[in-house]
Formats: sequence, C-alpha cells, structure tokens
Amino acid sequence: MENYLDNLIELDENAIKKYNSTLDQEMKEILAYARENHIPVLLEDTAKLLFNLAYKLQPKNMLEIGTAIGYSGTLLLSASKTSLTTIENFESNYDLAKKHFDSAGISENVNMLFGDAFDVLNDLASQNKKYDFIFLDGPKGQYIKYLPILKNLLSDGGLLVSDNVHFKGMVFMEGTIPHKKRTIVVNLRKFLDAVKEDPEFEWKELKLGDGVMLSKINRKD
Ligand SMILES: C[S@@+](CC[C@H](N)C(=O)[O-])C[C@H]1O[C@@H](n2cnc3c(N)ncnc32)[C@H](O)[C@@H]1O
Repeated sequence: MENYLDNLIELDENAIKKYNSTLDQEMKEILAYARENHIPVLLEDTAKLLFNLAYKLQPKNMLEIGTAIGYSGTLLLSASKTSLTTIENFESNYDLAKKHFDSAGISENVNMLFGDAFDVLNDLASQNKKYDFIFLDGPKGQYIKYLPILKNLLSDGGLLVSDNVHFKGMVFMEGTIPHKKRTIVVNLRKFLDAVKEDPEFEWKELKLGDGVMLSKINRKD
C-alpha cells in the first residue's frame, strides 16, 4: 500500500511545467555562477523533488538552513509563494542571495537571517516559531545536533527535507572512511538512525541526488 510520502514524491505534471518555467535566464546564470565558484547548490533531481514537494504541499511557511546564493530559496518560493525564513553564515553568500531575491522580486516573502544555524535555530525555537516545511541543507556534520530543535520547529504534520544525507555514498561505506570525512559520515549515520527510530516521524529515505531524507512529524501528545 502506498503511503503519504510515496504519493507526495510522485512528480506532478503542473509542478514540473512550473519548475521548467522558473529556470529562466537569471536562474541559469545563478546556477552557472554557483558551479563555477564551487558553491554547492541543489542537484537537478533534488531541485525537481523539492519544487514538487513545495508545490503539492503549499506550506504556509518554510524554513531553510543553508541559503547559499538563493537558488533553492527562489525555487521554493516559486513553487509556493508564501514565506521563507532562510539562514546563512557566510557573508558573501548572504549578500549575493539578497541580491538574487531582490532581482527575482521575492524579497518581501523572504526573511534572511545571518548567523550560525545552531544559534539562529535556538532563537527561533525560543520564540515558539513553527514551520510547515523545513529544508535542511546546511553543514552536514551538524544535522544530528539540529534535529531536536528542528523537530520542535515543525508544525504538527510538517515536513523536514534533509539533503546530502548519503554524502557521496560514504554513509554506506564499510571499512575505513577517509579521515577528513569521518565525523560528517558518523554524524550523518546518527542523524538517519535518529529519524528512523523516532516514533513521531514517518520517513522515507531516497537515493536521489546525494541522498534525501523526508520526515513528516505526527506528534503523539
Ligand atoms: C549546500 S549549501 C546550500 C545550498 C542552497 N540550499 C541551494 O541549494 O541553493 C550550504 C550553505 O550552508 C552554509 N553554512 C555552512 N555552515 C553553516 C552554519 N553553521 N550556519 C549557517 N549556514 C551555514 C554555507 O555557507 C552554504 O552556503
């Protein structure tokens, strides 16, 4: 039997038409700039999935960890023109994202927060903020540390979409993981296990792009 998340990931024809029309000259230039300057942004399949999810869900409000230069944020707001709060701690990325949101005419819908994601997330939680849709695309080694706060920030029934959870396939590697990547891989494994073991999460792990974990919260209290 197909479940909620299986249905949700099925690509909607109209979503894909809108996704294609969003990829105008300006978006292509943003993408080309990101690739040339080694700024990691969404892979194409992941971009389509993310767009499709936001299009089908039409969340009231969205949160993103890892703005980079505003590529995924612009896609999210084109799929669902509601409001997006997005966090970035690298100044030149933050400045470029601001410029891109301005020229796309969507600045009014964006709340850009500059700072370390852990601190900003804690601030948002202390203000009792809730989001229907969270896109986690910040530092991969920190996902496990963010998870309890993100859970708190999700509205009931809200969806957390976490990117790069397979980290170039390294989470499946047996034996020795390259030293420099070990902490990230170990922490990503802990993150995946924590989501899977949490009875309040309905989840689906996708081998799409660099690995995407979908987790929908159904609170038990
Ligand atoms: C994978 S990129 C985000 C890509 C973007 N979501 C997109 O697809 O267009 C990750 C971003 O997270 C930012 N970042 C890394 N560590 C961070 C931290 N501790 N707090 C906030 N942002 C952070 C990086 O500067 C980078 O711009």
